[in-house]
Amino acid sequence: MISPAIFIFFLFLSSSHAAVLDFCVADFNAPDGPAGYSCKKPAKVTVDDFVFSGLGIAGNTSNIIKAAVTPAFAMQFPGVNGLGISLARLDLAAGGVVPFHTHPGGSEVLLVVQGTICAGFVSSSANTVYLKTLKKGDIMVFPQGLLHFQVNSGGSAALAFASFSSPTPGLQITDFALFANNLPTELIATTTFLDVPQIKKLKGVLGGTG
Ligand SMILES: *[C@@H]1O[C@H](CO)[C@@H](O)[C@H](O)[C@H]1NC(C)=O
Repeated sequence: MISPAIFIFFLFLSSSHAAVLDFCVADFNAPDGPAGYSCKKPAKVTVDDFVFSGLGIAGNTSNIIKAAVTPAFAMQFPGVNGLGISLARLDLAAGGVVPFHTHPGGSEVLLVVQGTICAGFVSSSANTVYLKTLKKGDIMVFPQGLLHFQVNSGGSAALAFASFSSPTPGLQITDFALFANNLPTELIATTTFLDVPQIKKLKGVLGGTG
């Protein structure tokens, strides 16, 4: 039997903890950090912070990869800040591809809603390839940080939605990291074993210099 005095003591102890926050809607006026954005004052939060209406509209796939990602990450959808989740829409025109990329901040689940998508990822130490052709209704998970890709392997437009285990999963496309900046060609050749003409060609296509 616990004495009333001790019970009250523990009650006091536990109530001295910080209050639980229901949410932490992103405050874009304050700097963000590894834990996400600062919280907007609750009095300034509205229902629109918890609603994002952009995922019903097809992204513009008139680009080099014939693909468009429409993110509903914390930046676009402040209500997900601090909640460990977010969503994005993926449009792939015929022949479209999301080139090899990683999301440093979160794992991804991809749901194919229309069309056929060949998707795969590569494990980090064994470099094992996990590859599958996904059809409408299929979902595939891409573990956090691993290189992965999606290719429209059907003859018509494909549509998918991706959910992430982070409000800010991040996106780094390998080809862009290598060929869309000013990393010197010779250094790319040395560090990738690719031929210089191929590097120069890709820099030309992706807007890189050097
Ligand atoms: C799609 O993007 C292309 C290339 O940037 C542009 O020329 C075109 O106007 C855009 N289409 C729409 C519907 O916004």
